[in-house]
Amino acid sequence: MIDTAQTQTQGPGQDPAQDRVLRIGLLGAARITPRAIIVPSALHGDIDLMAVAARDRAKAEAFAEEHGVLTVADGYEALVTHPEVDLVYNALPPSSHAHWCIKAMEAGKDVLCEKPFAMTADEAQAMVATARRTGKRVIEAFHYRYHPMFSMLMALVASGRLGALEHISASLGSPISENPRELRRIKALGGGVLMDMGCYTMHWCRTLTGHEPSNIAAEAHISGEVDDALGAEFMCGNVACAMTVRMDPDVDRGSELLIEGNEGRILVRNPLAPDRGNSYLLETLTGSEEGEINGPTTMECQLMAVKRALYEGTPLPTEGADSINNMRALDQVRAAANLC
Ligand SMILES: NC(=O)c1ccc[n+]([C@@H]2O[C@H](COP(=O)([O-])OP(=O)(O)OC[C@H]3O[C@@H](n4cnc5c(N)ncnc54)[C@H](OP(=O)(O)O)[C@@H]3O)[C@@H](O)[C@H]2O)c1
Repeated sequence: MIDTAQTQTQGPGQDPAQDRVLRIGLLGAARITPRAIIVPSALHGDIDLMAVAARDRAKAEAFAEEHGVLTVADGYEALVTHPEVDLVYNALPPSSHAHWCIKAMEAGKDVLCEKPFAMTADEAQAMVATARRTGKRVIEAFHYRYHPMFSMLMALVASGRLGALEHISASLGSPISENPRELRRIKALGGGVLMDMGCYTMHWCRTLTGHEPSNIAAEAHISGEVDDALGAEFMCGNVACAMTVRMDPDVDRGSELLIEGNEGRILVRNPLAPDRGNSYLLETLTGSEEGEINGPTTMECQLMAVKRALYEGTPLPTEGADSINNMRALDQVRAAANLC
């Protein structure tokens, strides 16, 4: 049996941060924000949605009204310097991540920054350097990493039940609107499928192997001004990795991860959003097992992990060098696919 004991989230009474209120400022009235922040916050009495800002104040006002955000800040600058905000959630396009994360940290705020972290590793480096200089945190919103599903996978790999890792195959697809105003279709905003989805599949490979990619070969299909399908092969240590990401209109929505060692393998359906349905098939020398991993939403797991880490001062796996290294890996895949 897979040991899920260590994958449980902390129960009531065990959370040292439970009596403190975290005041969140929402940078952008983004589509992802209800799922990432509003819904999970409503499940916990210790989080205040303090303020929201949008380029258009009327849009921010409508968002605040609909989602119960306490105040509307008069623009991005006012939001990141808001005296009653502890944590800024940056859900702007990737091209605006570095600038506003740095401003927020310089104003004394911690930041939860949406993926992909930045446009390049150089930008990521500047963001992390600001965190070190100011003593503030900038955490990348790789929500899946905080769900019991991924904890189970990490524990399984560490247990040695798969033997020595040999191969990982990761795929992720989601049809993205062909509207030219969609940020994922605008290169200057950080669009393209490598940035939007490849950031996850690369992160899975790096995290599971504990190694950075080398010997990268990649090929992309271009639609308009961005890549809408991409395949890459690379080595992470001794593990041969392959990733496929697609956002073209014909792709089925979903994600899959195959992890193979010399003594076993596990195939996972929906490692990205396991709370929306998942399954795994584990095959080892001693037999096979099918199952699913239950838990809160990945977004709730993430928010609780961020809150605890901020109050305890403990590091998270999706910040610091990890964010720089993931962006460096994406830079390398971009170059290998001639997307520069
Ligand atoms: N973690 C996840 O599962 C997940 C899922 C989806 C998205 N994301 C990430 O979250 C971020 C936002 O994604 P989203 O789908 O929520 O995007 P979105 O709503 O289309 O855009 C986010 C915000 O960016 C600003 N924006 C949009 N288009 C712009 C443009 N053409 N020029 C300048 N600013 C523009 C808007 O700010 P104003 O409100 O100020 O107008 C908007 O609210 C991205 O980094 C994305 O990768 C993460």
